[in-house]
Amino acid sequence: MTDALLTDLAAILDAAWAALEAGAQQSKHPFHTPVVATAGAGDCDARVVVLRRASSEARELAFHTDARAPKVRLLQACHTTAWVFYDPAAKVQVRAKGTTTVHIGDAAAAQAWARTKLMSRRCYLAETAPSTPADEPTSGLPAAFRTRSPTAQESEAGFVNFALCVTTVMRLEWLYLSARGHRRAAFAWDAGAAQWRGHWLTP
Ligand SMILES: Cc1cc2nc3c(=O)[nH]c(=O)nc-3n(C[C@H](O)[C@H](O)[C@H](O)COP(=O)(O)O)c2cc1C
Repeated sequence: MTDALLTDLAAILDAAWAALEAGAQQSKHPFHTPVVATAGAGDCDARVVVLRRASSEARELAFHTDARAPKVRLLQACHTTAWVFYDPAAKVQVRAKGTTTVHIGDAAAAQAWARTKLMSRRCYLAETAPSTPADEPTSGLPAAFRTRSPTAQESEAGFVNFALCVTTVMRLEWLYLSARGHRRAAFAWDAGAAQWRGHWLTP
């Protein structure tokens, strides 16, 4: 970790977004599987997801889910979403908060769907919604797809159940656990000035 990450807010902001973008692109990167927390309708919840896209330019983070899942209802009731990432080797935690738009059956969903692998599409062919109670152990998948991926043609039936969730980040927080003294920095998006405003926080 360079000294700039102990003293320079701009360098920290760049490093945070670089790590998020790497997390979206590299399946073995620790930021690839963050926790996403939702609240709303008198409830809150958190779960691990796969970070599918991160864009510093658009200030966006995206994950995919089943449109029938409870978290989609929470997101639609309260768009505020919190993401938590941790890289144990770098000793860096990044927290991101923003508003989430759920895309189901629209052009953005279709574009994301086109980039999914057949193996991933299989989940969206489950016959019952995620979280449906079951009397027996079950994957929820139709018998035909329990042991193989669907063909491209078979997979298309899953598109109606596919949701692309995109968070526009309004606040970003960086925590670096350093033997030389922990560092914590927060960045808020200033929409009027179209720029991030950073400041230090006591860790
Ligand atoms: C490594 C890992 C990656 C996961 N990725 C996703 C994902 O991208 N989307 C998703 O909906 N659930 C994903 N899950 C499952 C969720 O953590 C959660 O169990 C499921 O979505 C049900 O959540 P809900 O009850 O809040 O709807 C993943 C779980 C693990 C362990």
